[in-house]
Amino acid sequence: MDYLKINQASSLKGSIQISGAKNSSLPLIALSILSNSSVKISNVPNVVDIKTLLRLLEMLGASYEFDNNILNIDSSTIHSTKATYDIVKTMRASVLTLGPLLARFKKAIVSLPGGCAIGERPIDLHLKALKALGVDIDLKAGYIEASVKSNLKGATIIFDKITVTGTENIVMAASMADGKTRIINCAREPEVEQLCQVLKKSGVDISGIGTSELSIYGTGGESISICDSEVIPDRIEAFTYLCAGAITNSEITLDKISPTHLSSSVSKLEEMGFGFTYLKDAMTIHPAKRILPIELTTTEYPGFPTDAQAQIMVLMSQADGTSIIEEKLFENRFMHVSELKRLGANIHLKGSTATIEGNQKLIGTDVMATDLRASSALVLAGLVASGTTNVHRIYHLDRGYENLEGKFSKLNVNIERLKEGL
Ligand code: EPZ
Repeated sequence: MDYLKINQASSLKGSIQISGAKNSSLPLIALSILSNSSVKISNVPNVVDIKTLLRLLEMLGASYEFDNNILNIDSSTIHSTKATYDIVKTMRASVLTLGPLLARFKKAIVSLPGGCAIGERPIDLHLKALKALGVDIDLKAGYIEASVKSNLKGATIIFDKITVTGTENIVMAASMADGKTRIINCAREPEVEQLCQVLKKSGVDISGIGTSELSIYGTGGESISICDSEVIPDRIEAFTYLCAGAITNSEITLDKISPTHLSSSVSKLEEMGFGFTYLKDAMTIHPAKRILPIELTTTEYPGFPTDAQAQIMVLMSQADGTSIIEEKLFENRFMHVSELKRLGANIHLKGSTATIEGNQKLIGTDVMATDLRASSALVLAGLVASGTTNVHRIYHLDRGYENLEGKFSKLNVNIERLKEGL
């Protein structure tokens, strides 16, 4: 296992390129199941979660080439519809194969994903919506056994809660159904929007893209020739590096970003006193004279993203005053707090509310990553903590951050990836 050794950074400088979004690549890869030919997806980040989903599709019979962030995948050769526990347990987003497999093969056996560090992560809303499309679902020995006698039937689906992968699963299933499907209270994340745009460009009649109500006229069982696509920039990776610039009071530039996808998270950094300039698809962060404390609540897009909560919490520990975070999406997304407190942060938790004292002097030590975004927060803390911080269990980081130590080194950070025990 690897760990990251990070020395306190005086200041960062220079620019880096943001990678393609993991959470847009995953549904686009699952979408290839609906295609009657090979699909080309460019700007795919080379991270573990992508390789996990590709391994799953290969197990089902697909073939692919993935090199230099360009993926060519041919899922027309899939011959199995069983996604087994050993692979699904490592990545919840495997559940994105359920909708497409049902649409194309009329049956699927997919392991229940189980929970993860940040919460129970149920998929009841996915299953309820698939039943509305005519799917019979049995839960047996930890597996979802799903089937439909003929084509899925279009229906009106109202999601009780906004679910990103739930929306994506149903959008893909409905694309090959008979008739019209309306999805009400659907997710509006940019990653959902890109999936819909690719389907529209591939000839599927889909409207309401980017809103909380989608209408999809399915192909009635006809497979779809999925067009080439280029994955949108990763807005959460971008925010993580903006926080790195902010916490070290540096001026750094991020290339290949989509500014509109970052509006709510950047506006919170502006509230904390930071400035920003934009040039086409790049942005530069400028130091704050004084880092101001703020209050924020995580909500679905376009609100402040839960995936950015751990990162801004570390920055808040350096603000001149007390900040508050209300985590509304996941029941256990404060796993990073205990590790931050070991670095010297003063954070108090009460239910879904975190109170973060400012002006904290962090002191480097050994810390342990617990989930993807929590681990990026520990790296940010290592930039400002005195001495050296060693972040262990960084397999969590490798799930969603491409070449993190290479990008931080380019920004003048003294960071090394080392082997445990050596
Ligand atoms: C997606 O997860 C993202 N993952 C997550 O990013 C992100 O944190 C999350 O959306 C929220 O934005 C991918 O896109 C691959 P949800 P997802 O279904 O779809 C509840 C990362 O860091 N819910 O939108 O699994 C659920 O428990 C990852 O890259 C149900 O109750 O999240 C949660 O409280 C972590 N029943 C809320 O809805 C369901 O059937 C939002 O979950 C589904 C969800």
